Amino acid sequence: MKAACVILAAGQGKRMRSQRVKVLHPVCGRPMIDYPVSLALARRYAPVVVVVGRQAAEVQAHLGERFGRRVRFALQDPPRGTGHAVLCATEALAGVRGKLVILSGDVPLLTGAELGALERAGRRAAVAFLTCRLDDPRGYGRVVRDRRGAVERIVEQADASPAERRLDEINTGIYLVDAAFALRALRRVRRANAQGEYYLTDLVRAARRAGLAVAGVELGGGAAAAVLGVNDRAELSRAGRDLNRRLLAALMARGVSVVDPDTTWVEAGVRVGQDSVLLPGCTLSGDTRVGRGCRLGPGAVLHDARLADGVEVRAYSVLEGCRIGRRAQVGPFARLRPGSVLEAEVRVGNFVEVKKSRLGRGTKASHLSYLGDATIGREVNVGAGTITCNYDGERKLPTEIGDGAFIGSDTQLVAPVRVGTGAYVGAGTTVTIDVPDEALAISRVRQRNIPGYALRRPGR
Ligand code: UD1
Ligand code: CA
Repeated sequence: MKAACVILAAGQGKRMRSQRVKVLHPVCGRPMIDYPVSLALARRYAPVVVVVGRQAAEVQAHLGERFGRRVRFALQDPPRGTGHAVLCATEALAGVRGKLVILSGDVPLLTGAELGALERAGRRAAVAFLTCRLDDPRGYGRVVRDRRGAVERIVEQADASPAERRLDEINTGIYLVDAAFALRALRRVRRANAQGEYYLTDLVRAARRAGLAVAGVELGGGAAAAVLGVNDRAELSRAGRDLNRRLLAALMARGVSVVDPDTTWVEAGVRVGQDSVLLPGCTLSGDTRVGRGCRLGPGAVLHDARLADGVEVRAYSVLEGCRIGRRAQVGPFARLRPGSVLEAEVRVGNFVEVKKSRLGRGTKASHLSYLGDATIGREVNVGAGTITCNYDGERKLPTEIGDGAFIGSDTQLVAPVRVGTGAYVGAGTTVTIDVPDEALAISRVRQRNIPGYALRRPGR
């Protein structure tokens, strides 16, 4: 439907008890406000106007960066109620005739399905809005209907009589209105109510008085979670869990196995390929892309990680800002820090930390190592306990290891240093000077055995 859209985000959000404005709190990795804005843009509403107030500069900066010029802003300061908030968008809506959709910035789970229902019902009504029935309607505006079921008005909790408080049909705060009528009528709304605010909900009564059609569109029980806003931290947590479930369901529908959706967390931008398996307790966030046929977890933590096909990330490994090639194996208990690149078929085993290093195809670092600022060739064997000493107290320095080299266990590579192609480093060596190609470096003290030592110990 061709419509403009106003998204209200100027409220105080007091119940969050936060220094940060409510709509910038993240849900599944994205500020809450991103969801209704994305949805409005996806439905091609234009213009899309966000009414900002508290921390207006931060909200505007964020949305400007995320959506560019497709979003306009209106300022409401101080907030004097939802009706006043819409009026503040009048200038930004100049020239808008026809329909206007009104959303709140705190409804991250809303989808096109609910808006579709609103659009269908709203075609012939001056004011249409979504409602649902709640077991516990406390706090919400109640929908008052006449005996024939037509909506008479919406009454806020604070203004409701005991009988009205028993009504279980609530206003979700999602509207489709005739723009010209709404802006005209809102200018006449007064604030003689319990909260001393200009109520957007008074539009309903205004339409009825003008003899215009009003539609209260009741959604089925299952839709409540999608349309209810986030007001406090408990609802924030619930919204996150519900959206996570939805994201996991979408992955499963595309052929990803999620063994335990209750303990698996994915953020909104994450992609996972077909036939990959997420074992319990995995967390995938940021710009993480997992290829096909990968196996992750249990307890794998991936942030901004790119995995090619067939990668295995075993239990309790943490990967951040790294790229992993086909059929590589990582973990259990491995840590890959930003700037790490593992080429195909690399193996990084338990208690290995890799930072800003490249490991060439087929290279193995199976146990207990630190590899930082290193460029390591193909088919290198990095022995247990190998450490790149990359920091001299002031600077980070590079280590280079050529193709096919063999680094014995418990080696320290004091950077800057290079181990040549096909070279060997004996176990327990401290490498301080470059090792030529094909050479052996060994720096440990020759072993001496003292016969009968134990027998001659005092006190024996
Ligand atoms: C509002 C509705 C109520 C409905 C409920 C659904 C009114 C008077 N009441 O109640 O019928 O059941 O939503 O959640 O509209 N906002 C502004 N400026 C303001 C006040 C609010 O921009 O001056 C924004 C808020 O940031 C929020 C939205 O409007 O995004 C709703 O505000 P909120 O205070 O949550 O509305 P309620 O009073 O709970
Ligand atoms: Ca609310």
